[in-house]
Amino acid sequence: MDIVGSVTAMEPRLLVVGGGRMGGALVHGLVGSGWSPTDIVVVEPSADRRAELAHELPGIGVGAEIVDATGAVIAVKPAVAEDACRALATTSVARVLSIMAGVPLARLESWLPPSTAVVRAMPNTPATVGAGISALAAGSRATEPDMAWAEELLAAVGHVVRLPETSLDAVTGLSGSGPAYLFLVVEALIEAGQAVGLSEEVSRLLVTDTLAGSARLLVESGETPRSLREAVTSPGGTTEAGLRVLEDRGVRVAITAAVAAATDRSRQLAR
Ligand SMILES: NC(=O)c1ccc[n+]([C@@H]2O[C@H](COP(=O)([O-])OP(=O)(O)OC[C@H]3O[C@@H](n4cnc5c(N)ncnc54)[C@H](OP(=O)(O)O)[C@@H]3O)[C@@H](O)[C@H]2O)c1
Repeated sequence: MDIVGSVTAMEPRLLVVGGGRMGGALVHGLVGSGWSPTDIVVVEPSADRRAELAHELPGIGVGAEIVDATGAVIAVKPAVAEDACRALATTSVARVLSIMAGVPLARLESWLPPSTAVVRAMPNTPATVGAGISALAAGSRATEPDMAWAEELLAAVGHVVRLPETSLDAVTGLSGSGPAYLFLVVEALIEAGQAVGLSEEVSRLLVTDTLAGSARLLVESGETPRSLREAVTSPGGTTEAGLRVLEDRGVRVAITAAVAAATDRSRQLAR
């Protein structure tokens, strides 16, 4: 799709380029955290998705073409990053937050006017339920107010940490891909429950609540994962028997290697 630059009479505070999973989640989060829907315009090529967003979020602007705004979030796939930036370059948007994986700040800055402040973030999919964690990195022209602006946007869908851009490949390999690692563990545990005689339905319920409850316990108790693990591991007991198998079969080594592989892949994709 070609995005044509144009200017509306009422300039929105925020333009969200790409109303897919992440862009849509961000808009939901912003409206849920008190933003006026009329301050947001989503640019999205799919007419079906535009209708869906307009229905879900009454009052937001939706359109197929880029319009002027005070700030913009780029939430399109990395393959169309340049198109989106070049379209934004025809507007007077002064601040841009990119949530695209693997598109470096230097490249974004080269496609946007020298006057545009650029901030790059790496969110993760729990953002779609307001429980994400995003790492934020400043571009060469981004000032503290630009970072505070980006931080406020992403805080609508979860926690935010500020890091140098050099850390973003590691963030991608850890928290970006992290939900998939945990879902793999969940899949394996559900199968394991079935293997010891439980139904798929019961096993899924037990595993899902165990994951959600353990995450809550970890966050709310403030204790280390190690101390929580040790607290449920009596010498000679059932947990110890299970954990011994995991350690003997190299679960830690596999996890370390998985995060390293994902981090390397992120570095390759950014080249
Ligand atoms: N999902 C994740 O876990 C995750 C985590 C961190 C970062 N990210 C990043 O977030 C970005 C969005 O991911 P997503 O999962 O939300 O993808 P998605 O659901 O495919 O959303 C992208 C949306 O952008 C639209 N689009 C395509 N070209 C466009 C253009 N030129 N102008 C405006 N909109 C356009 C797409 O429409 P069509 O479908 O009609 O093409 C689609 O609705 C990606 O860059 C990804 O790297 C995702």
